Amino acid sequence: MKDNLSPGISDDIRHDSAEKHVTGRADYTDDLTEPQGTLHAYLGLSKCAHGRITRLDLDPVRAAPGVIDVLTAADIPGVNDVSPAGNHDDPIFAEGEVRFWGQPIFAVIAETRDQARRAAALAVVEYDALPHALDPIAARDAGMGYVTDPLKLRRGAPEVALATAPHRITGRMVIGGQDHFYLEGQIAMAVPGEDEDVVIHTSTQHPSEVQHMVAHALGVASNAVVVNVRRMGGGFGGKETQMNLFCCVAAVAAKKWHRAVKLRPDRDDDMTATGKRHDFVADYALGFDRQGRIQGVSGDWYARCGFSADLSGPVTDRALFHADNAYFYPDVELRSHPMRTNTVSNTAFRGFGGPQGVIVAERMIEEIAYALGKDTLEIRKANLYQNGQLTPYHQEVEDQILPRIFDELEASSDYHVRRKAVLDWNARGGVIRKGIALTPVKFGISFTATWYNQAGALIHIYSDGSIQLNHGGTEMGQGLNIKVAQVTAEALGVDLSRIKITKTTTEKVPNTSATAASSGSDLNGMAALDACDQLLARLTGFAASAWNVPADQISIGETVRIGGETMPFADFIRAAYLARVQLSAAGFYKTPKIHWDRAKGTGRPFYYFAYGAAVSEVSVDTLTGEYEVDRVDVLHDVGRSINPAIDKGQVEGGFVQGVGWLTSEELWWNDKGELKTHAPSTYKIPLAGDRPRIFNVALADWSVNREKTVKRSKAVGEPPFMLAISVFEAIGMAVASVAHYRECPRLDAPATPERVLMAVERLRGGGTAA
Ligand code: MTE
Ligand code: MOS
Repeated sequence: MKDNLSPGISDDIRHDSAEKHVTGRADYTDDLTEPQGTLHAYLGLSKCAHGRITRLDLDPVRAAPGVIDVLTAADIPGVNDVSPAGNHDDPIFAEGEVRFWGQPIFAVIAETRDQARRAAALAVVEYDALPHALDPIAARDAGMGYVTDPLKLRRGAPEVALATAPHRITGRMVIGGQDHFYLEGQIAMAVPGEDEDVVIHTSTQHPSEVQHMVAHALGVASNAVVVNVRRMGGGFGGKETQMNLFCCVAAVAAKKWHRAVKLRPDRDDDMTATGKRHDFVADYALGFDRQGRIQGVSGDWYARCGFSADLSGPVTDRALFHADNAYFYPDVELRSHPMRTNTVSNTAFRGFGGPQGVIVAERMIEEIAYALGKDTLEIRKANLYQNGQLTPYHQEVEDQILPRIFDELEASSDYHVRRKAVLDWNARGGVIRKGIALTPVKFGISFTATWYNQAGALIHIYSDGSIQLNHGGTEMGQGLNIKVAQVTAEALGVDLSRIKITKTTTEKVPNTSATAASSGSDLNGMAALDACDQLLARLTGFAASAWNVPADQISIGETVRIGGETMPFADFIRAAYLARVQLSAAGFYKTPKIHWDRAKGTGRPFYYFAYGAAVSEVSVDTLTGEYEVDRVDVLHDVGRSINPAIDKGQVEGGFVQGVGWLTSEELWWNDKGELKTHAPSTYKIPLAGDRPRIFNVALADWSVNREKTVKRSKAVGEPPFMLAISVFEAIGMAVASVAHYRECPRLDAPATPERVLMAVERLRGGGTAA
């Protein structure tokens, strides 16, 4: 492999599909030409949170215009299950009993989508209602149990530390979930082939898993199923497992009727029937000294997992892995409680549980600061990890760079001057109050399921010198394809324009992992480099023997140099082809160093950490609870950026999505268990007008990944999401000002205007009126 530290392409190259995205020429699954005779499927969903189905009359559905068939569990030739973790608890169609409001019970197959959708509403379903529990605490009290094994992380003797600490605080934080609100919803189009074959065009982050799920549902081997993904219109974790069901339904119908079948739910059904970010209730106890240094932490994270396990195991694990965020806990015990609830099964979402750990760490910092009457920044600095210290999972922190990030960000954002101005402003006692906060993130990079940390790539050089690049990752807007193409172009020394980025397909790279955990470019970039190394070795060997010059006098690139001779790349490739050199290579990569013993709660689950920090300033109207984000300054660590333009886009997008999670995006179920916020009319994601008035985003351009990654870069997809906690804390500071900062504001998330107003009223009632 070429020296990773060599200077080279690290360019602001725009997303390969940017123009196509904004001109509507990018093909999403729904844009693909439908084969003649394509049928359309639509799901029939339960209207009961938990109950036995006492009557299921589908005759009116069958009698509706255009209807060809109605599928239920009985029509599935293989297994009626899409559980990704092998728990066999995720039926495609509910049988006998429904476990959440919105659970699929049947699918209509009709000539048109409109006919299928209208017919689905005609089913007569009656239920014998059973008791249901919707939130994690209700589920605990009802003895609902866990959907998967809980985790405990422990180091030292927290009981002793808590008992002997000069200060001790206990509290609870309620943290809301989040809908992914990808612009493109779930979608699958299955095209049947001969024998057992079927090709699925879909928008999944995990083509290999869809392949296996479809094979299981059809009762065929995986080699009969091909899954293709050109791009997604956003995934954010919501298409890591959730697409499985849609693909299986389309595939079963396609094989039964020997016609292509497409399934695309509308937005309301998509939001009702697919999993979201886990809501959590966290109970914490912390002990600290007079300087605000943490001595002991004990905490319980109760998660709303929904009716089945899905990815709740790794998600709740990752919450605990990030419950320290950037801070050293000398003695600690953290416990996860993946609660079974009668709600849709929650799933991956940017940060994968990490944000719900990080935010509690930051709440504990606030608790200390308000208790001691200090700036939260001072408490943060007093508790930051030092290299050599151990996390609660016994991984040594070796790459701490937050002190430098803090220093630079404090200076560039003018933090101290602005904080003083905010305090002065609030001291005047007006209706509009301000808040400012600097919060960090430290995020562990790697899948905690160690075997997931592998990837493959396949590179073809055609005899005309054009190159086709394929890798196992999927493109969801994050710019993975352009990054891997840049890496490939640089390694082969050719122009980027020579490389064709192709769809992800299980036919080219098998046994891929989900594109998730921010590891897409780390894994697939390295796999592509491995393929490039093989090609370069073969081409150099060919040139050396054909021209009879030593290898060190050969350089491959747009202009190939062999001894004194030069020639264009295409001519050289033509010569290699005629000399029967293999011009295709499959690359492979697996992350080194990582290991994890879940039973013991020890190991090195993460290859490295990505860091960052943000300063946010907000204005809060204390009469209405409304707020605005006035200014945000971010300094984020992506190691040596492969593409700063793409990386900054990820930081901005992640940050704004995080602000949505913590401010306006609220999931609300009625007491029957029906999600009432299932459309943009009732669920508010940030709009252009909600962006920070001033938004300064910088990358820590001096940072170099100390571990060997592609060009010493770092993953970027998820970590910046958590920087939005600075907005949340700043809102809390503005609220706390009404009681002269004597009380920790203890906001729950999301801090909707209603919740902010209630917090203001509570503090005004309890504290001294300002
Ligand atoms: N950016 C865009 N535009 N769209 C997305 O769906 N998903 C995020 C992040 N950034 C997402 C995104 C999530 S949840 C992850 S895990 C990473 O991208 C996955 O891609 P990567 O591993 O290539 O960074
Ligand atoms: Mo991202 S939540 O790991 O898809």
